[in-house]
Amino acid sequence: MSDFSSGFWNIYIAVLTILGIAGCALLLWSQSRNRVEIVRDANGQAPSTGHAWDEGLVELNNPMPRWWMWMFVLSILFGILYLVLYPGLGTFAGKLGWQSRGEYQAELALADAQYKPLFDKYLQQDLKVVAADPQAHAIGERLFLTYCAQCHGSDAHGSKGFPNLTDKDWLYGGTPEIIRTTILNGRNGQMPSMAAALGTDEDVRNVAHYVTGLSGSAESDPIKSVFGKAKFGACAACHGADAHGNPLLGAPNLTDKIWLYGGSIDTVMETIRKGRNNVMPAFHDFLGDAKVQVLAAYVWSLSNETREGHGEREHEGEDRKEHEKVNEKVNEKVNEKARGKKIDTKHDQDHG
Ligand code: HEC
Ligand code: HEC
Repeated sequence: MSDFSSGFWNIYIAVLTILGIAGCALLLWSQSRNRVEIVRDANGQAPSTGHAWDEGLVELNNPMPRWWMWMFVLSILFGILYLVLYPGLGTFAGKLGWQSRGEYQAELALADAQYKPLFDKYLQQDLKVVAADPQAHAIGERLFLTYCAQCHGSDAHGSKGFPNLTDKDWLYGGTPEIIRTTILNGRNGQMPSMAAALGTDEDVRNVAHYVTGLSGSAESDPIKSVFGKAKFGACAACHGADAHGNPLLGAPNLTDKIWLYGGSIDTVMETIRKGRNNVMPAFHDFLGDAKVQVLAAYVWSLSNETREGHGEREHEGEDRKEHEKVNEKVNEKVNEKARGKKIDTKHDQDHG
């Protein structure tokens, strides 16, 4: 009702409702047995209305049976009582103050109260202990599918720009506590465009050859790499002189075969030219400490053996391989479409 911008429609509907009920009552009263005079014949039969069907079938002008009339009276009384107690008459909220929204909130509060002791227990525990708890694992998995899968994939393997959370390679570090901090506060990986700092396009290309050569890419040209290495100082502030990365900045290790965006010369040149700006949203306000605790333990367990989780994952081995193949194909298609050119991630073993 509050959707209407003017109060007129509330009153209009309320008046129509009241008139409807009053109309029913009036009709009932006018038709009640006492008001209609009935002249019966010698057999006690009411006179015919003059309507006849199928030769012998005649409609007699009998009054309504009393039980039927009382049903009408009862429904009218029920209607009035309902409108007094529950919302239904314009904006009138009803004497009981019942709301469908209130009912939903009550259910939520009930669920929270029911699970609170469990979540409180997890919140007190060490993250590694939580990770080994099968029930926490199941809750974590469900939370992950609801809040994280749209970006990281339902199997947490990620895709271009979205890190794989099941490997041992971390942008920001892979201890359970750091993972929790990541989820609570979010992250923003920023690499500025470095083209101007390097100089010419030739320099950008040489550095890309050097960077891809660090992980043994066949694309990398040794001569260009030598020139590239001389320019890598511009990158060392963030990625380190040895290019092993810096978890404080989220600067990736450039010496492994795990790439967030792709390890081809073209993609690395694109990264250098345009820079990168990548956001992982913060979940503290949205999910709260307890759910994030369970999520952090779950994510950590994806790349670490926990007592209970271990056997389960062994079991999944075959399934997972099959899944990975399909996922890879899908990712390739998406990447291909996004860039409108040939796949350049085919040398990648994985995503960062
Ligand atoms: C809107 C997309 C999005 C959603 C939703 C999202 N993430 Fe992320 N996440 C990212 C991106 C993008 C990064 C990489 C950030 C960067 O490059 O700095 C990331 C990074 C991470 C990292 C750090 C990985 C590393 O290598 O250090 C963790 C852990 C993580 N996410 C967990 C989660 C969890 C758990 C959830 C669900 C509560 C979640 N993410 C939901 C986009 C998302
Ligand atoms: C100011 C810090 C900073 C500097 C300087 C910097 N980078 Fe980065 N670089 C980053 C960060 C942070 C990321 C991760 C961006 C993200 O999370 O999306 C990154 C990502 C990359 C990637 C993508 C890696 C992948 O896994 O796909 C490459 C390649 C790269 N940098 C190369 C370079 C090169 C080459 C230079 C020097 C010319 C350079 N960076 C200079 C901070 C920096």
